[in-house]
Amino acid sequence: MTQRFYVTTPIYYVNSSPHVGTAYTTVVADALARFHALRGERTFFLTGTDEHGLKLEREAQRKAMSPQAFVDEMSERFRDLWPKLLCRPDDFIRTTERRHEEGVQRAWQRCVDSGDIYLGSYEGLYCVACEDHKTEKELLEGNLCPVHGRPVERVTEQSYFFKLSAYGDRLLEFYKRNPTFVRPETRLNEVVSFVEGGLRDLSISRTSFSWGIPVPGDPKHVMYVWFDALFNYLTALAGTEREGALWPPDVQLVGKDILRFHAVYWPAFLMSAGYADDKLPRTIWSHGWLLTDGQKLSKSREGPSHGRGTTDPVRVADAVGADVLRYFLLREVSLGQDGEWSVPSLVSRARSDLAETVGNLLNRALPFAKHFDGRVPHAPAETLSDADRALEALAATAARDAAAAWAEPAPHRALEATIELARAGNRYFDESAPWRLAKAGDLARLAAVVSHVLELVRVVSVMLWPATPSKSDAIRAQLGLDPLAPRVDADLWPLAWGGLAAHTALAPGQPVFAKFDAQQQAQIFKELDVTTEETKPEAPAKAPKAAKPAEAKPAEAPPGPLTYEQLMATVDLRLAKVLAAERIPRKDKLLKLSVDLGEAAGPRTIIAGIALAYAPEALVGKQVIVVANLPPRDFGGGLVSHGMLLAAGPSDGLSLATFEKDHAPGTRVK
Ligand code: MSP
Repeated sequence: MTQRFYVTTPIYYVNSSPHVGTAYTTVVADALARFHALRGERTFFLTGTDEHGLKLEREAQRKAMSPQAFVDEMSERFRDLWPKLLCRPDDFIRTTERRHEEGVQRAWQRCVDSGDIYLGSYEGLYCVACEDHKTEKELLEGNLCPVHGRPVERVTEQSYFFKLSAYGDRLLEFYKRNPTFVRPETRLNEVVSFVEGGLRDLSISRTSFSWGIPVPGDPKHVMYVWFDALFNYLTALAGTEREGALWPPDVQLVGKDILRFHAVYWPAFLMSAGYADDKLPRTIWSHGWLLTDGQKLSKSREGPSHGRGTTDPVRVADAVGADVLRYFLLREVSLGQDGEWSVPSLVSRARSDLAETVGNLLNRALPFAKHFDGRVPHAPAETLSDADRALEALAATAARDAAAAWAEPAPHRALEATIELARAGNRYFDESAPWRLAKAGDLARLAAVVSHVLELVRVVSVMLWPATPSKSDAIRAQLGLDPLAPRVDADLWPLAWGGLAAHTALAPGQPVFAKFDAQQQAQIFKELDVTTEETKPEAPAKAPKAAKPAEAKPAEAPPGPLTYEQLMATVDLRLAKVLAAERIPRKDKLLKLSVDLGEAAGPRTIIAGIALAYAPEALVGKQVIVVANLPPRDFGGGLVSHGMLLAAGPSDGLSLATFEKDHAPGTRVK
């Protein structure tokens, strides 16, 4: 049976233009859809815009426009952006479309029929930027919203309520039976504790403004924007063949700031509207944020990106190419973790992975085709060496690993495996020294080496395609291959060796990737407003030249001192405050800490091997330094650590690194 894959992004508020932070989710969704399409699945990728609510109404007023004219103009900016980033959504839904409004009204009616909607009166605090109610205890000092740092408003109004309180047990039961409903796992734990803390009924209508979907039968109320917006994932399919074929979504990507809406309200609304557990979304995938200088990158915090370059995705794509921007977002940020936005990091990533590893391998191999009439050489089995066979085996393993990582989804790991394979290809090229084989006239071995490198590049081009579709196709054009065109039920993932047939006419052309050398880097920095001192152009590692194979050298960058940019792009050190510490039964050396890194998602758990040197009570309130971008480490027995403390010394005389003065939790060490 045809497998299917339905992936969604949140629908974006149109109060401001998209930035690289919002582009991030869509790029991830597009890459996942492309991967699944390559595997022969029927894919459906939905995105769109969220156009109702007070925030939009006010923004339109500020611009002296009607709300409709304003959202029409702004929605267009999102719709137009995606093709520029090589994103190909199958549908783009707007919440002001009739199909959506009617669909949401039907859903509302179904919740009414279930007895879950009643009329009451609401008094409380509201953040207009979040379009969400806040409780006193969530607020920062000065009654500020913890997400936007803006004052909340006190509101009293008649309102329809949704009986969320009635869904606590059913939700907890559902999470237990579907432990991958929320991922990563740490986020599920947060959701479970939130629900266990008790759910209050949710105010789901407003009378204080009119820019929304009217409540059926009581049009002075408009629906709360989240009730309206969440149903987009359904209304985009409703009444079409797609609903039966594609529902429910397989992966719903959401930023960690909107996890609660998707992991608590959304399934509760669907349950109320009559959806059985097996018709609820399969996975809500909560990803981290792109940060600038440790802060969530957003329009409401617009300002200097600390010299690390513009956050306008179109300008970035124009300067470096959309493939490169996509590659950076997918490779640099581990899905689920935060990542720093930095044009200098993007350039160094593109240079080392794409130009000096993938592009270089192709450029080095192609000139040898002249010995074979410009075609892929034929290498009979008996001419193959152990090294050739080992390369084939390595490609098979890498293709399997990368496929598993994409399916996870863990794009950064999939791409890491892909580039690692290309690196191995460069090593194989160096060790096989085709220039010597050519000089010695050993055409049989030369044919084996060249055909192997070219096939390896083909394999890599497919594995890169979800991230860099147009560059992959450009590589394929030089290999004499057609662009990749996924078809339902045809698995194009390169699990088998030998897809590049002998005698295929090669078509060498301009290098597929820019070199990103010092001169190009300086130009890109200038175009993209990079101004920090520490990002002065550096001389890139000299890559072997493709045109003169006799001079070819190993392709890897020589070991050497790290640049500041590489350091910052690799290691994320944060100041943090220990909130609680406890011993762990039967683990003499370990302590379990709850540590505040100033993250909106709340404190992290860190397991540290410091119990012989520190009593738990001595640690509470202490400022520590945390390596914040390590993958979670599982110590067994339900103990998972989300970071590492810096320390030095023997285990019983260990001392923790700290700073002389106290700074805010989350401050980056630089
Ligand atoms: N309209 C709601 C979503 C409704 S879905 C039924 C919304 N819109 S948003 O435009 O504010 O955010 C959309 C998505 O973009 C969220 O998942 C949010 O986490 C993500 N991002 C916004 N800024 C981001 C970064 N700086 N980094 C990564 N993702 C970011 O919320």
